[in-house]
Amino acid sequence: MKLFGEVEVSGAKNAALPILCASLLTPDKLRIRNLPHLQDVTTMLTLLGHIGVDVELDEKMGVMLSGANVNRLQAPYELVRTMRASVLVLGPLVARFGRAQVSLPGGCAIGQRPVDQHIKGLEAMGAEVEIDQGYLTVSAHRLIGAEIVFDLVTVTGTENLMLAATLADGVTVLRNAAMEPEVVDLANCLVGMGAKISGAGSETIKIEGVSALKGVDYAVMFDRIEAGTYMTAVAATGGELLLKGLDVNIISSLVSKLSSAGGEVHSEGEDLLLRAPCRLNPIDIKTAPYPGFPTDMQAQLMALNTIADGTSTVSETIFENRFMHVQELKRLGAKIEIQGNMAVIQGVSELAGAEVMATDLRASAGLVIAGLIASGETSVGRIYHLDRGYERIEEKFGRLGAKIRRLSN
Ligand code: EPZ
Repeated sequence: MKLFGEVEVSGAKNAALPILCASLLTPDKLRIRNLPHLQDVTTMLTLLGHIGVDVELDEKMGVMLSGANVNRLQAPYELVRTMRASVLVLGPLVARFGRAQVSLPGGCAIGQRPVDQHIKGLEAMGAEVEIDQGYLTVSAHRLIGAEIVFDLVTVTGTENLMLAATLADGVTVLRNAAMEPEVVDLANCLVGMGAKISGAGSETIKIEGVSALKGVDYAVMFDRIEAGTYMTAVAATGGELLLKGLDVNIISSLVSKLSSAGGEVHSEGEDLLLRAPCRLNPIDIKTAPYPGFPTDMQAQLMALNTIADGTSTVSETIFENRFMHVQELKRLGAKIEIQGNMAVIQGVSELAGAEVMATDLRASAGLVIAGLIASGETSVGRIYHLDRGYERIEEKFGRLGAKIRRLSN
């Protein structure tokens, strides 16, 4: 059914997670606002609490953090295995305390997800790194500023080393750095704490170490992937969507794709209005590091392509196994063939509801979109994947007129 209305976009999960870790860099208080109410944020706050950060949630999902009483320099397996971003405590702990022990995150559904670049950077800054029984133990008398060239673009790798470099002795230059807006949001927060950072958002970031950082009051940026997910859903099902509080420039790659699909996008200041097309053109996508098309939007756009008027291709260049939603979409009647890291989609006139299974966070978002497109009822299993990255998804879609309800967790 067509969806009409406004969605309130939450704070960005992938900005909130590294920003929460900045609390480890100072004994002063951090007040972080506009946190999304998500499982991953709860997991990160639990991990920081385990390490000894004082965490005080305020009424509207803001949080007061203080790293004054950090007393455990360890991120245990039972927490890290549920959220790979836990590796982001490594850089700040070593920078401030000279030591950290973090469980190796292990792979996940979408790929191996190694952390060799994180390790390479910390070693370049003078840290000793040991891997033993699934744990990374990193120690350094004091981190020394270094020139680090990443072998590939890594978002949390860039963030981990930026966090570490803020308290290192001397200047660190990160080359081939990730340019994602969430990296810039972290840099802005750290600068607010007294860090000396320039170049965030470009491929070369310079961090001049300081002796100490202070507290800050900082609001996390909007979640561009959540916004993009609702935009894609409305474009695919027809209707109209209003989003407020966006920086439209940072979702330009998605806006141009939805426009070529036939969507009408109008933006004014921080508001964006999307009108769905009467017929959907197929759109070819190739994921790439920012400012390229985001891999976190790949499954959602594939769902839209399943009913577009023609053939489209979706190429995934970031992760080696991020097509698990394809089999599930085919259960709904989609016509998709995988050729290496490229999926070829033949648009069909309609999808038919069925039972499907979520496999990872963004694949499950793609399945919800497909369920909204399909005739009849679709049930999506293992929606704990969804809750990691989407706040109140059934409520927000429900407000747009979707018939969606949570059966169980
Ligand atoms: C971040 O993951 C995001 N997570 C992911 O979002 C996102 O998909 C990904 O960046 C790419 O944009 C957070 O920010 C918390 P990478 P990250 O390091 O940092 C390889 C979501 O849905 N690599 O940029 O872990 C890696 O295997 C999540 O919210 C190495 O080989 O991703 C991958 O193929 C899913 N060695 C590629 O680089 C390393 O040391 C990009 O990974 C690090 C990464």
